Amino acid sequence: MRVLGIESSCDDTGVGVYDGERGLLAHRLASQTVHEIFGGVVPELAARDHIRLLLPLVRRVLEDAEPGGPPPDAVAYTRGPGLAGALLVGASVGRSLAWAWGVPALGVHHMEGHLLAPLLEADPPEFPFVALLVSGGHTQLVDVAAPGRYRILGATLDDAAGEAFDKTAKLLGLGFPGGPAVAKAAADGRAGRFRFPRPMLDRPGLEFSFSGLKTHTLIVANEHRDAEGRLDSQTVCDIARAFEEAAVETLCVKSLRALEAAGRTRLVVAGGVGANRSLRALLDARTTDAGCRVYYSRLEFCTDNGAMIAFAGYLRLAAGERLESGSFEVMPRWSLESLPPIGSAA
Ligand code: KG4
Ligand code: ZN
Repeated sequence: MRVLGIESSCDDTGVGVYDGERGLLAHRLASQTVHEIFGGVVPELAARDHIRLLLPLVRRVLEDAEPGGPPPDAVAYTRGPGLAGALLVGASVGRSLAWAWGVPALGVHHMEGHLLAPLLEADPPEFPFVALLVSGGHTQLVDVAAPGRYRILGATLDDAAGEAFDKTAKLLGLGFPGGPAVAKAAADGRAGRFRFPRPMLDRPGLEFSFSGLKTHTLIVANEHRDAEGRLDSQTVCDIARAFEEAAVETLCVKSLRALEAAGRTRLVVAGGVGANRSLRALLDARTTDAGCRVYYSRLEFCTDNGAMIAFAGYLRLAAGERLESGSFEVMPRWSLESLPPIGSAA
């Protein structure tokens, strides 16, 4: 079975084709630049850009997969969670194509796409495992007993990890999207100039909170501004480094606690913040010390992409799942735990 996957939950338009026998055949991403001047994603502009970008991208990816080839056997699109208008573009295009081709369609959970993306790599993790999902909208630790069987062990009480990176970038004047910009500045930061608090590490539990760290970052930045409100570039890098160290250590310590609590030895890291090199280095070191192993997807599949939706959709469609009903309702808010185990539809 060959599945076309469409991702349009936020500001990236992604398309991929996954084949059950031959694996991932093609994928492309069109990242929207229209939001940069606003310093954050503007939902209405995201939806309009998806409309503009999606069909030409689908055409190109299908050509990449097999020039002049037959239509795919099924279509998977992101049904949620995400921005309602943006999701509706992917859902309506995905369902219309499926209807025109006379093939089944299925709405996929965006975070399941992220979570399963490391299975596209050459040395994939076996089940069961614990997943650390760290994106712009989510920070969750999930126990994954089997494909599609998810139990949330802990989540953020306020900001998501990626959101904290984005807000830190904004207050340091580093631009958008913030995660890669903060990481780049942090690489030039000096160790030990600032030490920021590690949120929620002093108490038990697997919840996260990043708003206190964000406020602390703001206070330190304001203390160092000159009369014109400017920060010197070394201080920007030093603050970025202190922020990154605190965020990364928090994610790492909680992930190890989650592995122990769930009795698992494999950790899967997914979502945009999973591309962070400092996070990867610390997780690699600490999981090895604990006798565990950590799995990632390639960098381009940490952030939003169509390949992960094609793959997650393939797993569910190949197991017999089909579109819920005739409507194309999207789910801007949608719990991973409410999904049926993969294979339960057959
Ligand atoms: O998974 P994703 O592409 O979109 C969502 O589903 O939210 O994640 C995007 C988030 C953004 O907040 C971005 O700043 C963050 O991931 N991010 C990073 C890095 N690359 C992307 N955060 C820290 N370090 C990075 N290298
Ligand atoms: Zn995402």
